[in-house]
Amino acid sequence: MSLFNVYPLFDITPVRAKDVYVFDEKGIKYLDLYGGHAVISIGHSHPEYVTSINEQISKLGFYSNSIKNPLQVELAEKLVKLSNCKDYQLFLCNSGAEANENALKLASFHINKKKIIAFKNSFHGRTSAAVAATDNPKIVAPLNAQHEVEFIKLGDLVSVEKALKQNDVCAVIVEVIQGIGGLDERTTEFYQGLSKLCKKYNSLLIVDEVQSGFGRTGDFFAFQKHNIEPDIISMAKGMGNGFPIGGILIHPTIKASFGLLGTTFGGNHLACAASLAVLKVIENENLLQNAKDISTYFIEKSQSLSKAKAIKGRGLMLGLEFDFNISELRKKLIFEHHIFTGSAKNPNLLRILPPLTLQKHHVDLFFEALQKEL
Ligand SMILES: Cc1ncc(COP(=O)(O)O)c(C=O)c1O
Repeated sequence: MSLFNVYPLFDITPVRAKDVYVFDEKGIKYLDLYGGHAVISIGHSHPEYVTSINEQISKLGFYSNSIKNPLQVELAEKLVKLSNCKDYQLFLCNSGAEANENALKLASFHINKKKIIAFKNSFHGRTSAAVAATDNPKIVAPLNAQHEVEFIKLGDLVSVEKALKQNDVCAVIVEVIQGIGGLDERTTEFYQGLSKLCKKYNSLLIVDEVQSGFGRTGDFFAFQKHNIEPDIISMAKGMGNGFPIGGILIHPTIKASFGLLGTTFGGNHLACAASLAVLKVIENENLLQNAKDISTYFIEKSQSLSKAKAIKGRGLMLGLEFDFNISELRKKLIFEHHIFTGSAKNPNLLRILPPLTLQKHHVDLFFEALQKEL
């Protein structure tokens, strides 16, 4: 049997990893400035994480959501403490797409309408409503295209208000910093305006923090810089440091009822153990501050690169924009300098999404390699 061939692959086979380094089968060591696509938050194989998962699997790896699971409660409490999202309720699932799917579904149940407003260049995942709210027709099948979605330019509050006035919108979904779309972010005025409009026209504001959450920007969530209170916050990637887990934080004004949402695997004991370890390490190692400090250092270093047109993003969700397609540069960084980086929809943008444990000397290695290639 062969694999369903949907991924263009780099010819590298990682077999182990530690902190910010990945090692392949030939023993070559790669600096991981990609974090497996913004997933590795506390560093690969962190001892706290390994112990937490090992201890949990030896006790109880899984049981259904029809029994009590105190680890879910502990995770909710710890999340509130670290994120400062007081009184929000937690629903756990397994991935970013699922988190957004549940967020949109919940909004539709709550508001009892079905249209969604999303933004140009958005990415929200590949399940039915999530992919319909993703601005990439190539990955939207006719089945998904049945959802009613209007795409508006990020920043255009006038068009948002015009659409909301039709009174058929259940939710506005937004990545505060767009990930794959190219790290665009708008002003605080825009996000606050969006929040006000949602309230005025009785729609829910969903912020997709799947990529930007869990400390990646140096704040626990990217929206917090803009001082808004979203109705639903979706999370995944950094939440499990590689263990599949996602979730939504739900504003206290939205009430639960039995059967409204559900999942077999979501919030299982092992996933909770993984995410609890992530939160513990973020707190103990002060990784939010580290993300901010290393980001500042990275941005300073980037000023010396005359060929870089712009630096985009925040914290350790960064991008260097050039005036040429970066695909060859990215290959050179991988195969000649052994440094993983990411790409974006914008072909000129090199993305940096490393573990939040990154240090200054790792940044130096990257810029030395870049100077040689430019
Ligand atoms: C902003 C955003 N939302 C949702 C998703 C989908 O997450 P997943 O691949 O875990 O379904 C991604 C994945 O890249 C993402 O970046």
